[in-house]
Amino acid sequence: MCAFIVRVILVCLVTNSVKSHGHDLHNQVATEGPYESAAIVYKWKTMEYEWPNASMKEQYVQNGKYIPKNSAINGIKIYKGKVYATIPRLKSGVPSTLNVIVEDANNITSETHLLRPFPSWDMQKLGDCHALQLVQGMEIDIETGWMWVVDTGFVPHDSTMVRPLDACAAKLVIFDLERGLEVHRYVFPKTTVGSGLFYLNDIVLGYSSGSARYAFISDTLDYKLVIYDYLLNISYTIGHQNMGVDPDFASINISGQVLQVPTGINGIAMSPDFKYLYYSSVAGINLYRVSTSILMQHPVIREDFFDDVKSMGRKASQGDGMAYGVSDCLYYSALGKNAVYKWDIKMDQKDGKMDMSQDSQMQLASDPRMDWVDTLAFDGEGYLWFTTNNMIKFIGDHGVEEDDYNFFVWKIYINDYSYLDRKHYGPTLGSSSLIFSFKLRLLSVLLQVILAFHW
Ligand SMILES: *[C@@H]1O[C@H](CO)[C@@H](O)[C@H](O)[C@H]1NC(C)=O
Ligand SMILES: *[C@@H]1O[C@H](CO)[C@@H](O)[C@H](O)[C@H]1NC(C)=O
Ligand SMILES: *[C@@H]1O[C@H](CO)[C@@H](O)[C@H](O)[C@H]1NC(C)=O
Ligand SMILES: *[C@@H]1O[C@H](CO)[C@@H](O)[C@H](O)[C@H]1NC(C)=O
Repeated sequence: MCAFIVRVILVCLVTNSVKSHGHDLHNQVATEGPYESAAIVYKWKTMEYEWPNASMKEQYVQNGKYIPKNSAINGIKIYKGKVYATIPRLKSGVPSTLNVIVEDANNITSETHLLRPFPSWDMQKLGDCHALQLVQGMEIDIETGWMWVVDTGFVPHDSTMVRPLDACAAKLVIFDLERGLEVHRYVFPKTTVGSGLFYLNDIVLGYSSGSARYAFISDTLDYKLVIYDYLLNISYTIGHQNMGVDPDFASINISGQVLQVPTGINGIAMSPDFKYLYYSSVAGINLYRVSTSILMQHPVIREDFFDDVKSMGRKASQGDGMAYGVSDCLYYSALGKNAVYKWDIKMDQKDGKMDMSQDSQMQLASDPRMDWVDTLAFDGEGYLWFTTNNMIKFIGDHGVEEDDYNFFVWKIYINDYSYLDRKHYGPTLGSSSLIFSFKLRLLSVLLQVILAFHW
């Protein structure tokens, strides 16, 4: 009887505490929001580069090394106020694949921003396997100022088609942004990347003993994860059916136009405690999660992976890029909605249970011009940045219309920071768990009082 009463009181109090804990989260969202609407930071009809001189540009145009409408902004990362952008060589005539966005020094009244090749023009030479060939994804370790750059290595077959030509092997190159120097390079062996179709897409980093040790990279066309261990200087892979194409979601309805997107694992994200990796296919609607402890074992044991990987539920639409913040929220591209969504993962994990509810997902920003939200990034000041690039039209035979604005960089205030932002990581978690443990202590005091009174 007494035990029963105690249990009832306990259940009641605990439920209450959990409820108010959940309520706090709602309040937090409510006081942070409504979110400012997203603002355009840069826009281009065609991407413009910063040329050393006019004659070099002329020469590039004449021999087809610069075809203006064939450059589409994809990757974006921000470090100390500098915005880095990738232009993967999906078509011919892309003069530079890795860049930093700068103002036009020759025309201060111009609103057009330019792409300045990073680290140099020399490092963009097509067909020179030492140089960068096709960069889509990169990640910046804020602690060291090192940029980890993934180069798929192949070059375009003709003006409209991508085909692995096997001219240069895929590689990972690390630059020290403070010094503008290359500090590390790893060429992937054929056994890891480069037999058959492949396309190295997104990259996130995993810390071990306080520093970046692992790079996790999605291979969109070979439907697998590539893992690079910086310490041991080795790479290995793991594949799963859920990294491939879900036939039910192989077409997307973008603004009423239905298109086939038979591509696999694309956006990946890492939790700030480095325990979980999240991923999703373009041709898929589910978000998947796997423990990094499984991925950090070399080789990855297939059975362990299959046992551990779980579906977190459905996204609002198929998507491309994703990013994970220190607040335990996932931000993702929703292609069918011309939008960016926020998924409050911690709301789904109350009591250690997974409670997938659409309540935990909300639309952050949407606009008809957000045609193909590609890559997301944090700027360290509470903003989420993202690129949109009209990809379906771009990839088509005729490409984009040069009279329209096709390529955009947007930003929106979200009061969140990158999973790699150690400065913002500790305090956020600390305060919420402090409140929780305070509530527990209050509970036990209350219980003691009740029990004492009862007897
Ligand atoms: C233009 O710049 C390129 C690359 O730096 C250089 O090789 C070339 O000599 C320059 N041409 C002129 C006319 O200054
Ligand atoms: C500078 O930019 C302004 C505004 O875009 C433009 O009207 C002008 O023609 C540009 N000047 C030169 C020299 O390109
Ligand atoms: C890492 O491995 C690659 C390929 O096996 C090799 O070429 C390179 O020299 C190694 N780098 C270091 C720092 O050991
Ligand atoms: C695509 O979406 C539009 C609304 O944006 C809808 O009217 C149309 O029926 C959809 N088409 C298909 C084939 O689902």
